[in-house]
Amino acid sequence: MNQPTSLSVNSWDFRSGVLHVGGCSVSDLISEFGSPLYVYDRAVMEGQFEVLRKAISYRPFRLRYACKANGNLTILRIFRELGAHLDVTSPGEIVLAEMAGFHAEHLLFTGSSVTDEELAFVERKGVLINFDSISQLRRYGRRFPHRDICLRLNLDVGAGHHEHVITGGPDSKFGITAEDLPDARQLARQFDLRIVGLHQHIGSGILDAQIFLRAVEPLLEVARDFEDLLFLNVGGGLGIPYAPEDRPLDLAELGEGMTRLCESFCRSYGRRLRLELEPGRFLVGPAGCLLTRVNTVKRTSKHVFAGTDSGFNHLIRHPLYRSYHRIINATREDGPVRRVAVCGNLCESGDLFTHGREIIEPREGDILAICDAGAYGYSMSFPYNMRPRPAEVLVDEGRAWLIRRRERIEDLVALFPPVAI
Ligand code: LLP
Repeated sequence: MNQPTSLSVNSWDFRSGVLHVGGCSVSDLISEFGSPLYVYDRAVMEGQFEVLRKAISYRPFRLRYACKANGNLTILRIFRELGAHLDVTSPGEIVLAEMAGFHAEHLLFTGSSVTDEELAFVERKGVLINFDSISQLRRYGRRFPHRDICLRLNLDVGAGHHEHVITGGPDSKFGITAEDLPDARQLARQFDLRIVGLHQHIGSGILDAQIFLRAVEPLLEVARDFEDLLFLNVGGGLGIPYAPEDRPLDLAELGEGMTRLCESFCRSYGRRLRLELEPGRFLVGPAGCLLTRVNTVKRTSKHVFAGTDSGFNHLIRHPLYRSYHRIINATREDGPVRRVAVCGNLCESGDLFTHGREIIEPREGDILAICDAGAYGYSMSFPYNMRPRPAEVLVDEGRAWLIRRRERIEDLVALFPPVAI
């Protein structure tokens, strides 16, 4: 029987019974680079970028890649070549962006609970800051008056695939609320800060274009009262279909709606402002998979567990959000389909990629591909149980490049200072 999950995206297919990603056999990739392994298909990232750029006909328009989704240096370089700007959230991401060849004018810093030291760092780098709170604005204005700034607003609209990723509304820590706007404007006047941008990000993993469009309306309403604006940033949050029943975001509906709203706003505003979108997941999510080898098959009275050499330390999305990721038996195109719980090698019962899924029955030694793992996979990984992180590989039309080496136990122990107690 064939795999019950379809290979919806891109050029991934079975050849001689082995899954090929971007033209490369996963068995060959594992032989060369080891298991577990993150694999990213360059063509998919470029395709996602182009399809989104074309969907929005409003100009000027800027795509700002939210590099928290995947901070691999080579991936940043790919987006720079495509003409992306960047959403950065920490000093570390600024350093990374510089290494990838971005300049200060390509970056917008959107931080949360930012310290004075961090503000000074971003200021020194000449990067525009998107202010998340009155406190941050006051502390910055005192030290760095006469600057251009952007405000992140929370206009009470939130959405997302899980409560952890809703970033607008009364329960969210993010943004300056409508109530606090007069204070924000007062501080801007006091310190001669010119508000050149307004920003909002309502949440993540949204598949309904209407939710975005409805959220933009209050932003445009507020924007009328700001006379110095150069741009409006409507955030990221564009979802991708993970489960077979997920319907992809209607990009035509999003693009047309966004264009219509911005055109009409700019007519009444009297000036054409730049529109910015800052997606992370949409650009990299479908491009990546985590390959992991099954080493233990265990049958209990209730379950068949396929135990792998990875774990939630490499991809935490299922335990954290109950997220669905397609799982394909990448080394067995045909065979009996069985319901299996795919688990990792960590000492936690919740260390599962799925609690139960029908896949071609995995045997020990098989390689599984956990799909749509390009966003918030490696970037949220950590070395729990002293288990190092996998290597990352970029595949491009049948060729493969190592783009981050596998972490070693020596890398982890190197963090301990030599203290004798
Ligand atoms: N802009 C801001 C200010 C953000 O906070 C985020 C994501 C983005 C843009 C990009 O959002 P995206 O287009 O990727 O949805 N770990 C979660 C997602 C957390 C998103 C955090 N902020 C997950 O795996 O679903």
